[in-house]
Amino acid sequence: MKILVVGNGGREHALLWKLHRDAPEAELYVTRGNAGMASLATSLPLDPGDIGALAGWVEANGVDLTVVGPEAPLAEGIADAFLNRALPLFGPSKEAAAIEASKAYAKELMRRAGVPTAAFATFTELAAAERHIRERGAPCVVKASGLAGGKGAVVCRTLEEALAAARAMLGEAAFGAAGQEIVVEDMMEGEELSIFALTDGENVLPMLPAQDHKRIGEGDTGPNTGGMGAYAPVGIVDDALMERIRREVLLPTVAALREDRRPFRGLLYAGLMLTATGPKVVEFNARFGDPETQAVLPLLDSSLLEPLLEVARGGSIAGMELRWRPGAALTTVLAAAGYPGPVEKGKEVRIPAWVREAEDVLVFHAGTRLDDGRTVTNGGRVLAVTALAPTIAAAAARSREAAAAIEFEGKQFRRDIGWREVARGAGAS
Ligand code: GLY
Repeated sequence: MKILVVGNGGREHALLWKLHRDAPEAELYVTRGNAGMASLATSLPLDPGDIGALAGWVEANGVDLTVVGPEAPLAEGIADAFLNRALPLFGPSKEAAAIEASKAYAKELMRRAGVPTAAFATFTELAAAERHIRERGAPCVVKASGLAGGKGAVVCRTLEEALAAARAMLGEAAFGAAGQEIVVEDMMEGEELSIFALTDGENVLPMLPAQDHKRIGEGDTGPNTGGMGAYAPVGIVDDALMERIRREVLLPTVAALREDRRPFRGLLYAGLMLTATGPKVVEFNARFGDPETQAVLPLLDSSLLEPLLEVARGGSIAGMELRWRPGAALTTVLAAAGYPGPVEKGKEVRIPAWVREAEDVLVFHAGTRLDDGRTVTNGGRVLAVTALAPTIAAAAARSREAAAAIEFEGKQFRRDIGWREVARGAGAS
């Protein structure tokens, strides 16, 4: 079997790692792979966005399954291009990926489907947005409707902040085309949760609940990042809450997409807020999350490949089940100096032998590359260090220990990943 993973970050390294465990005999390929992927997959000199070239290569080389990591190729229609050539690909069509690529569409769909989410209004005209913000008041959240690399949501505590965010997006094109339509929504208070669900467009297979840490600083302070760490499972999500999320969020959303003639076949990622009145959707994504994937997949005991293949081939996942190993996983992201701003690249990365060889530690590479046999930094987020342990507290301690032992100039990481769960004193499920 031949499998291509599109993308080259920590999430894609975790996908390759799991697919290799599921099918050790499979030939794995990846687009412009990083240093950590070299032992698992053959790196192709093709960009994730080069859809025509990727489809051509896949067709010519008889690839059995393509799995798409990042959102941009999905929003550009990679699934549609592959479907036109009858090439099995795991990931939703362009129309279905609008649930991530257009926040305005996602909110409208949720309103129609009765999926719990914050009250909202959408605007393309600055004057109308300003009027609405003045009437509604602060706090609120102003979001660029399009894809903005995780930076398009501005939490506004004051009226002035909200007006400034709307002006930046609609008036000054701070997010380019992505901000030419904005969503203004009520602020929700609570704990955030990431739920991944595999879906064939009708049935859903939810994965273990996870939580990520978006801020750069300990105690959840400082600017937002792509994610500085994650853990799974989340103790406050019991079976009853998971069933509620399935019934009130996942199933109605998948049904509404089907009714819109945009059947979603792929990974639906619900970013939720656990409010005092129950779970509400902050946003949907059309792909696996990063770095939650690096915490969730190491706990998956059953095959990931089987449901991915079934969905990619147009089949049904009805009756399929996912099995999880007991215990917890916690991922600490190591970032380069300056991240989430501009970073210097090319710093040598040294991973001690004990970290590489430890059975309870997995090092997933993100922004790394090989340079004359040495691993060097090649991006903002450099590595994701996942530890497996019977409890979150033990996984946190082990992940921190390994993160501290890895060296590169300017390394920064948070030592408090999983702090809420540790404070709860929760163990593993
Ligand atoms: N962890 C956030 C994201 O993947 O968008």
